[in-house]
Amino acid sequence: MRIDILTLFPDLFTGPFSESMIRRAQEAGHAEIHLHDIREFSKDKHKRVDDYPFGGGAGMVMAIQPIADAIESLKAERHYDHVIYMSPDGQTLKQSICNTLSLAENIIILCGHYKGIDQRIRDHYITMEISIGDYVLTGGELAACVVVDSIVRLVPGVLSDEESALTDTFQDNLLAPPIYTRPSDYNGWKVPDILLSGHEANIEQWRMDQALERTKRLRPDLLK
Ligand code: ADE
Repeated sequence: MRIDILTLFPDLFTGPFSESMIRRAQEAGHAEIHLHDIREFSKDKHKRVDDYPFGGGAGMVMAIQPIADAIESLKAERHYDHVIYMSPDGQTLKQSICNTLSLAENIIILCGHYKGIDQRIRDHYITMEISIGDYVLTGGELAACVVVDSIVRLVPGVLSDEESALTDTFQDNLLAPPIYTRPSDYNGWKVPDILLSGHEANIEQWRMDQALERTKRLRPDLLK
């Protein structure tokens, strides 16, 4: 999978993409992540990327030309399955969206700043708008990191068998059951006996019961 990210702040991505699983996914060739500085596409002599909103109002708007040229230059090279705009107006990110996106070959993710982007970019290029929750960030970069992380781990080959995504919280609309590791008794805090019993079927049943109980208690909305 190839992900092209359009941003005014490419350095914001350095940490999240150069550690742990996302780094390994890139090194192993499962994911290619390319960062593009929108400012480099500006034809303005001062490399400006924003302008005042028509009709007045507070805040600046990301101008159409640098973004349009950046998207056009990428689309001239290959087909993109999705051109995603990170925005609090978008559909809220859910595991089902991550699953779908992880099957894509090539995607573009556009990160907004200031008051947002010229509407014509949304009308003519954007195929999907994603929000990571009902709150406003200073820009789309941190949200884009969340999207990339949640989809790259699902690309076939990225997770080992032990890390399998099939048992993730949300993968079947249930929260994950509690997990424990050694020691089985920590200063009197004991691991449930059933997990030490070696009885696989009973353990599986216990995990399912726990997952259901947790979901009912903490996220009843998931069961609807
Ligand atoms: N940009 C600003 N706030 C955002 C949010 N909540 N989700 C996605 N992109 C954003």
